[in-house]
Amino acid sequence: MFGTEKARVVKSSSSSPGLVQSEPRENGTTLSSHSVINLDHGDPTMYETYWQRMGDKCTVVITGSQSLSYFVNMKNLCWFLQPELEESIKRLHRVVGNAVTKDYHVVVGTGSTQLFQAALYAISPSDAPEPASVVCAVPYYSLYADVTDFLRSGLYKWEGDAHGFDKDGAYIELVTSPNNPDGTTREAIVEPGGGEGKLIHDLAYYWPNFTPITKPADHDIMLFTASKCSGHAGSRIGWALVKDEDVAKKMSKFIELNTIGVSKESQLRAAKVLGVIADGCQYCDSLDSDDVFKYGKLIMSERWKKLRDVVGQSDLFSLPVYPKEYCNFMGKFTTSNPAFAWMKCNRLVEDCAEFLRGHKILTRSGVRFGVDSKHVRVSMVSNDEEFDLFIERLQAIQEISNGYHI
Ligand SMILES: Cc1ncc(COP(=O)(O)O)c(C=O)c1O
Repeated sequence: MFGTEKARVVKSSSSSPGLVQSEPRENGTTLSSHSVINLDHGDPTMYETYWQRMGDKCTVVITGSQSLSYFVNMKNLCWFLQPELEESIKRLHRVVGNAVTKDYHVVVGTGSTQLFQAALYAISPSDAPEPASVVCAVPYYSLYADVTDFLRSGLYKWEGDAHGFDKDGAYIELVTSPNNPDGTTREAIVEPGGGEGKLIHDLAYYWPNFTPITKPADHDIMLFTASKCSGHAGSRIGWALVKDEDVAKKMSKFIELNTIGVSKESQLRAAKVLGVIADGCQYCDSLDSDDVFKYGKLIMSERWKKLRDVVGQSDLFSLPVYPKEYCNFMGKFTTSNPAFAWMKCNRLVEDCAEFLRGHKILTRSGVRFGVDSKHVRVSMVSNDEEFDLFIERLQAIQEISNGYHI
């Protein structure tokens, strides 16, 4: 039903591999037995075939005279937010039922990575003697630590694992649900002790292709991104739903000082894409429909099945198991099919990422997520060709492991 797209690959070489665009080969594929497949990043190229099938539905024409001004609407708290995008965001959340938007302020950002920084700035006390502690339960999204401490802010500081955190003073707990890297549904865990706690909910993966939608989320600050919802990571559009007006104003101020707003072209494109997704959900209900979530769910569950089948052939690797829950969007019980596989190497191999690298599979080590090197995070949202080669190589590893008991 959905054709295979040309793959972006890392070519294997005797020196350390770098990311290169490979040349298509004569049979139409781009990967060979020498190619290194890069499943380290969560680059959502899986969606390419869906959007090709959608043809011109999302085409946006922008003339030379459009988008010259910095400004959109100075009366709006987020003065650089395109009204079309705000409308599409609210409509999509209404249709999917994954977040409350009534009485929330929408703040747009250059990806949710910018909004994460804007939120840290907005909720850290500006007059505290010490920076606010930023924590997240392990395994946590690897970029949180890097981004939090990159500029050595005096306002906030990365303190690592939220388990057992009991430092006095202000703290910010990051709650990623479903979690990157392990796909679990999460809630805040820090018990407020001597300090004042604030929460940022990163809901990048709270969409029905990845996880059952059990209720509309209604937290103080919720971050979403087009990267994981529609697959348009390159457009760099994220949005925050923010309850408190002053926090939303401060987040907008951060973005004003950081990038003087957010690309109007990207916002218009995202508005169109999210609108087409909302239309697809509302008007179609067959699996062959235009519904990107049903498409995504089908692909993800096929991929997870293939992965579990191969992993199940021995005890060399293990994977998390997810409960079945009622998904209000799908109208039935479903299981999570996360965007990443959180794989553990159970025996002999100490450094799983290094071991898989030896088999030309690049993954991200558990160490980057605050855990150990026996774990790796593997992207499940690459294109078909890369995913199939990953499964093929894992199968070969299993056969060797079963035959020779490595
Ligand atoms: C949990 C989580 N939050 C945020 C992001 C970044 O999103 P964006 O592309 O919008 O910056 C990612 C990307 O992988 C993610 O996994």
